Amino acid sequence: MEADSDIKTTPKGFHCALCNVNLPNPPSVDQHVKGRKHQTLSTVRATRKTQEQHSVFVSGINPVISQTDIAEYFQKFGPVSDIVMDKDKGVYAIVQFAETDSIQATMSCVEHQMKGLKLRVKPREKKDFKLIPKKIASQNLQQALERLKPQLCQLVSVNAQMQYVVERFQLGDNEKKARGLLVQLLQEVFVEFFPDSQIQPFGSSVNTFGIHSCDLDLFLDLENTKVFQAHAKSTAEQAGEGTSDDGRSEDSILSDIDLSSASPAEVLELVATILRRCVPSVHKVSVVSSARLPVVKFHHRELNLQGDITLNNRLAVRNTRFLQLCSGMEDRLRPLAYTIRYWAKQKQQAGNPSGAGPLLNNYALTLLIIFFLQNCEPPVLPTVDQLKDMACEEEECVIEGWNCTFPSQPIAVPPSKNTQDLSTLLFGFFTFYAKFDFASSVISVRKGCALPITDFLSQNKAEEAMHEKKSTKAQPHGPKLGPLNLLDPFDLSHNVAGNLNERSQRNFQKECQEADKYCRSLQYQRKSTKGKSWGLVRLFTPHGEVPKAKTEQLTISIPFKLASLPEVLRNQLHAAGDGFRLLWFQKVCSAVEGVFQSVLKCHLSPSADAIFGEDSVVDSAVEMDTSSTSFNTSLNDSYDSVESPNAASPLGTAAVGAKRQLSSSSDASESPHVKKPRLAKRGKPEFPHWICVQKHMVWAGRRKVRRELIKDTDTRPEGSCMELESKVTAHIIEKEPALKEPMEFKVQPLMVGETESTKAVLKLEPISDTTGVFQDFFHFLEVFLPKMVETLLEKEVGSA
Ligand code: UTP
Repeated sequence: MEADSDIKTTPKGFHCALCNVNLPNPPSVDQHVKGRKHQTLSTVRATRKTQEQHSVFVSGINPVISQTDIAEYFQKFGPVSDIVMDKDKGVYAIVQFAETDSIQATMSCVEHQMKGLKLRVKPREKKDFKLIPKKIASQNLQQALERLKPQLCQLVSVNAQMQYVVERFQLGDNEKKARGLLVQLLQEVFVEFFPDSQIQPFGSSVNTFGIHSCDLDLFLDLENTKVFQAHAKSTAEQAGEGTSDDGRSEDSILSDIDLSSASPAEVLELVATILRRCVPSVHKVSVVSSARLPVVKFHHRELNLQGDITLNNRLAVRNTRFLQLCSGMEDRLRPLAYTIRYWAKQKQQAGNPSGAGPLLNNYALTLLIIFFLQNCEPPVLPTVDQLKDMACEEEECVIEGWNCTFPSQPIAVPPSKNTQDLSTLLFGFFTFYAKFDFASSVISVRKGCALPITDFLSQNKAEEAMHEKKSTKAQPHGPKLGPLNLLDPFDLSHNVAGNLNERSQRNFQKECQEADKYCRSLQYQRKSTKGKSWGLVRLFTPHGEVPKAKTEQLTISIPFKLASLPEVLRNQLHAAGDGFRLLWFQKVCSAVEGVFQSVLKCHLSPSADAIFGEDSVVDSAVEMDTSSTSFNTSLNDSYDSVESPNAASPLGTAAVGAKRQLSSSSDASESPHVKKPRLAKRGKPEFPHWICVQKHMVWAGRRKVRRELIKDTDTRPEGSCMELESKVTAHIIEKEPALKEPMEFKVQPLMVGETESTKAVLKLEPISDTTGVFQDFFHFLEVFLPKMVETLLEKEVGSA
């Protein structure tokens, strides 16, 4: 019913008010209503509603009053299931009852008094449930970055910025101590109920990658308790009594449950009960049995800490040891991991805020970093198999049949010969995954290489067949394959990125490609002397919050108009077959270069920037034509060929599993049927991005100068003659004073559109415009440049 009321008819179709999405037709509405997002939000809304209906708002308390006092007082109106107190001031509380009748009982009491205080009690306000729009989430990310920005910008290098990210986010000593004390407290409580049990932290709290407020993952090891219980049982049976020799089990909650036969859900319920009843400051306890590993979740009020307790998670404790070892072996891992984790969070690529979700989890992201480091040239980290061979006999470890052997101390591992600095490795990470062939690979940190997916497909089939034949015996199963396959280093049947869907995998790779392009720019590599954002700041800018600079609109289009091209060029294009667009685009690029250099007398140099950095989000009008394989290849290669301190090969080697790059030896203009253009010699890209410097206002008063030069006898329109326009420029330069400070700007040509709608788009961005004249120059170019390019194309053909 409620789902129906969420769907409204609009002039263009339908709108789901709950999820804030537009839907075009009834089938899509149907699909949407049954979909995960709508279902989850409906459940959350129903839960909130139930909470509202079961709780009262209490004010008039003060910090002296504890949660227990409130629970005791309100218990007389009915069973209290939860109490939420404002943690800063302790002036109000929300008391949630197990039954709705308790609300009426509470409200019918005329006066509520507690410890001499008069309490004000009222029913909860009924608030409409609203989905927090993504924009707000990205605003929060932007705000977080704003706080980080000043410190990052003032540092001298990306390396220093990466080290700063660690300092800023890592868990402090006091935080670690507080977590340690909580673990100790839990250990003391649990051992009362589960004799000989052990509670062990794992994950970010202890794996050296923890950040402030990261959750506390705990493994409750009940193996010894089972032994204890079995022993107590047999002793009691022998004695013919119902008690154990120390009498503990009879009074204990444990006496209700036989650990050897209880289901994980039953044990977790018991753990939840202990947490609720016996651990101070713990609240919001819930059992999530549907997770891959069922878990009890809780929150610690004083520490403001989210905790998770799992059973049967010995492997996680071991892989946490492995991550600790990797950090110990290689100092560069932590700055790299903190930076990449923060980048992924800002780009909403990792973290799954609500637990389950289609994004990478932090563990998977860390393994991707380790895999990349194993594939650097020379490797920064050894493979897990190599580590196994470095371990001694006492370090041998097998858990659930998986070999988890590795040295216990980093000293046992020879240091890496790789000397690349942090910023190069970060750049290398993005390059590696920007090109990685996810579709046909299974990433193995164990072997340190990408395994062909086909091996796993056939393995899975063979296992299925075996399973059908011998249905009695459980077969070891292969990993769940998906768009991103990343094997756990120890449990080789577990794809740690198995939760990703096509879209999240695609987005992750797209973000790596964006970051890879950005890392090639000077904005990444060099500190801005003008106090602008640079280095990691731009890399961390979240989507949707990038301030749209006016300069983003500065594009000039030169459409492909076959009919207006000279016949010789038309014939050349015809002969080029499929490569005609590329050939035409190359001609346009050299004509543009000619206009800036020869006609407008700009000083031109190739730019090290492959893109304009984050401020210049390529808008849909100038997006690359992904249908054109030839151009995509050439554009990538033009990036590859841009000379920059780090651009050449951040990895020093080809990405493992990446598609092989096409050879770059042929010239499209000479051999039109070859799809890929020649890369220009000495590192100059085929489609250069230029940095232009203009010292004069060559656009101002042009018409007048032209008129003077041609003396009324020549009626040729503006832009139709190269010699004339060059003379006009020269005249202005000679007669008019130069700009106080030269204007510097970038020009990046792009080819967009399908066959008929092909066009060259020039993106312009001012770098230095202290005299504020760039806009005027741009308006002049908008008209002048396309006309002049046409003229130059004719001239080039004529002179050929
Ligand atoms: P997380 O993905 O939560 O990583 O997994 P994290 O480092 O603790 O990051 P936070 O908590 O998001 O800040 C926690 C631990 O769970 C185990 C690993 O031991 C990991 O460190 N784990 C996670 C697995 O063993 N397998 C998985 O697929 C995921």
